Amino acid sequence: MRFRMHAFAPTMHVLDSIEALRAARRALVGTVAFVPTMGYLHEGHLSLMRAGLQRCDHLIVSIYVNPTQFGPNEDLSRYPRDPQGDRLRCEREGCALLFMPSNAEMYPTGHATHVSVSGLTEGLCATSRPGHFEGVATIVTKLFNIVQPDVALFGEKDYQQLAVIRRLVRDLDLTTEIVGCPIVREDDGLAMSSRNRFLQPEDRLPARSLHAALSLAADAWAGGERDAGQLVELARTHIERHDGARVDYIECVHPENLRAHERGRLIATDEGAIMALAVFVGSTRLIDNMRLDGPTHDRPADRAQP
Ligand code: PAJ
Repeated sequence: MRFRMHAFAPTMHVLDSIEALRAARRALVGTVAFVPTMGYLHEGHLSLMRAGLQRCDHLIVSIYVNPTQFGPNEDLSRYPRDPQGDRLRCEREGCALLFMPSNAEMYPTGHATHVSVSGLTEGLCATSRPGHFEGVATIVTKLFNIVQPDVALFGEKDYQQLAVIRRLVRDLDLTTEIVGCPIVREDDGLAMSSRNRFLQPEDRLPARSLHAALSLAADAWAGGERDAGQLVELARTHIERHDGARVDYIECVHPENLRAHERGRLIATDEGAIMALAVFVGSTRLIDNMRLDGPTHDRPADRAQP
């Protein structure tokens, strides 16, 4: 007779095939939360997992660096990876199934179907990353079809991505509920990101300027500023004071349709406003955003500003 140690301790299963994932998912009794990621997990990812387990009985996480969302000159080949560390992190969070498929599994020879969401994928990150959101929409649709989650959790850090996924779920009548989770930041305000590991010590100050600039714009909004042009310029001036920071875009947009608020026209209070930006710090492209009109935007009052 064989005895298994820790027979009642929950065990995480790591699966790399779609078939095995489907079978293991079918065996789960109760509701399933899903957190899709590209790995090199940090507290931002873990916060999504915790939010998932607050809502559902089981957690499924995927780690897959999806090649179709990277442009030809982007950082696919040097995207950071830590499969062993990530497994441990997922296990510690109580993940039931960890899906780590290969490219051959996700995009076998002959793959020819892509999911494209129009409207929301114009402007902001789509301008400098053509094709990026088509890659995201395609892989997320595939993962949803494989995992069949009740709930899927995404970070507000990738604000445009979250809006695209909400749209695609509505438009394709998918049954998964989408939950957006707040941005998790380092103590100095920098939004956590797998790409932060590329930052050199001298990049830290310019990297911090993104959050500081958003906070300045939110303060100006609180003080009554309603001209998108003024709000954007305030943020831009602050960031450009830092050597090593190069603005890709800064926009003040409507929180749902992501249309840019026209500069020079005052934003009506009931329209709402989110400031979104992308900045190159050294060779690393960082993104961040902040709701300007929310009563509780994420600005700790005591945060030091460079
Ligand atoms: P990745 O960049 O690994 O992010 C996975 C999820 O973690 C996304 O929903 C992202 O918004 C969230 N996230 C990242 N940093 C965060 C932070 N500081 N605070 C809160 N949430 C954060 O986004 C992707 O992967 C991919 O595009 C993916 C959706 C997996 C499709 O390939």
